[in-house]
Amino acid sequence: MVNIAVFVSGSGTNLQAIIDACEKNEINGRIKVVISNRKKAYGLERAKNHNIKALWIKDEDEIIKTLQEENIELIVLAGYLAIVSEKLINLYENKIINIHPSLIPSFCGPGFYGIHVHEHAFNRGVKVSGATVHFVSTVVDGGPIILQESIDISDCKTPEEIQLKILNNIEHKLLVKAVKLYCDNKLKVNNERVEIIWEER
Ligand code: GRF
Repeated sequence: MVNIAVFVSGSGTNLQAIIDACEKNEINGRIKVVISNRKKAYGLERAKNHNIKALWIKDEDEIIKTLQEENIELIVLAGYLAIVSEKLINLYENKIINIHPSLIPSFCGPGFYGIHVHEHAFNRGVKVSGATVHFVSTVVDGGPIILQESIDISDCKTPEEIQLKILNNIEHKLLVKAVKLYCDNKLKVNNERVEIIWEER
């Protein structure tokens, strides 16, 4: 059973998807703590509603101390909008998963977060977008890609419509799938590429 920490900054619908999957025993893991850099992040409420430790922490050293106290083996960034330092990334190399609401390498990197991702996609006029789950490296949105899934957005009339379509149709299930694969030890990273071990071992 993998000890998981989830970092949130907003509504926490991706967190909720992981909570629900764990409670249905779909994931060989348990969320030991939810951490947010924003005191009023609704994601903290979601954690409390499910009796999961929920902490508002801004200081990185305090975050690291908490992770070590909880014996965390996997960190999931679910809409976490604070910068993750090189120190934390190096401590948890290929043990930090992030979900980004576009098909990396499109619409990613510094400044591409939240609705801004979808504004750029909308303004560029792309007909397909989607989400990417990747390991976190010191390059923003540049870590090894774990899973991607695309969706037609040609019918979306605003960036907000794109955001909701990707969030509700792609992100929640893609993140759960990636966390499940990690907890089943089916992800191997070789030279910045993720190989998924699909066969039963
Ligand atoms: C999602 O769109 C995610 O891709 C992005 O931030 C948003 C978080 O949404 N990183 P929620 O807080 O999980 O509802």
